[in-house]
Amino acid sequence: MAQTRLSVVVTRRLPAPVEARMAELFDARLRGDDAPMTRDEMAEALQEADVLVPTIRDRIDAGLLAGAGPRLKLIASYSAGVDHVDLAAARARGVLVSNTPGVLTEDTADMTMALILAVTRRIPEGLAMMQEGRWEGWSPTAMLGGRIAGRELAILGMGRIGQAVARRARAFGMRIGYHNRRRLRPEIEAELGARWWESLDQMVAQADVLSINCPHTPSTYHLINARRLKLMKPHAVVVNTSRGEVVDENALTRGLRAGEIAGAGLDVYENRAEINPRLRRMPNVVLLPHMGSATVEGRIEMGERVIVNIRAFQDGLCPPDLVVP
Ligand code: DGY
Repeated sequence: MAQTRLSVVVTRRLPAPVEARMAELFDARLRGDDAPMTRDEMAEALQEADVLVPTIRDRIDAGLLAGAGPRLKLIASYSAGVDHVDLAAARARGVLVSNTPGVLTEDTADMTMALILAVTRRIPEGLAMMQEGRWEGWSPTAMLGGRIAGRELAILGMGRIGQAVARRARAFGMRIGYHNRRRLRPEIEAELGARWWESLDQMVAQADVLSINCPHTPSTYHLINARRLKLMKPHAVVVNTSRGEVVDENALTRGLRAGEIAGAGLDVYENRAEINPRLRRMPNVVLLPHMGSATVEGRIEMGERVIVNIRAFQDGLCPPDLVVP
């Protein structure tokens, strides 16, 4: 007997091969254009949906879930992070939540290294000089940055992405320290050449570069705050490719202005609509538009993971990337 096709609501345009596969497999409600779904559109679509596929731009909160129809059983998020979903509310309503871990690890780690190099070697400043025709030729004292080989990289959050950053940084000759809820197994520490810091304060005080790679949860909110920034070395740099909320952005801006740290490379912000305007004007700050996972391959693989999770659910199995609150 033919299986009933699941009604799957997708809130945002996805790469074409992903949309084509979804249309084949499900009764998929896809976006015609790249505009995000409004909350009202989402609330209306959820009346009849079995599965919702949101992105990090959508707030899936208790109110939205309370108004959803009884068929809604799975939120298969097109993302690794799930801080846009109220997991407790989903659980209370019997709705499963899955994500797309693993497939954006290498791309995000690449972008972390790109930001470390961009800030320490002043790449955007050099680019601007060339584009604006200001270069007057090579000089022994012009455009000097810092050498990253031999510097101490402190990684906050040593999950998949943190470990991928460590592997890359080690190849660049950096020394690696990390702080994580749980210490890694000794053989993994040995493979990464990474030293565990039980104390985050001590780790940030030692760091030449601090890379934020932990998820945003209530316990990581503003972990990097004014007090911890003051502990850092004045030549240190902060790089964040995870979630803006882990860093107190106003404190970071003040710290940069006061010379408490030397620079920052940010791919994520506390509030995309209200990035501190001072950050945009600092030559020692490199800002990117949340593009850590933005490769053609990565975005297709994210879609493939979403489909794997929906199909498992359809077959009565546990979605492999189930998020456990
Ligand atoms: C995610 O999926 O959580 C990423 O932040 C998107 O790049």
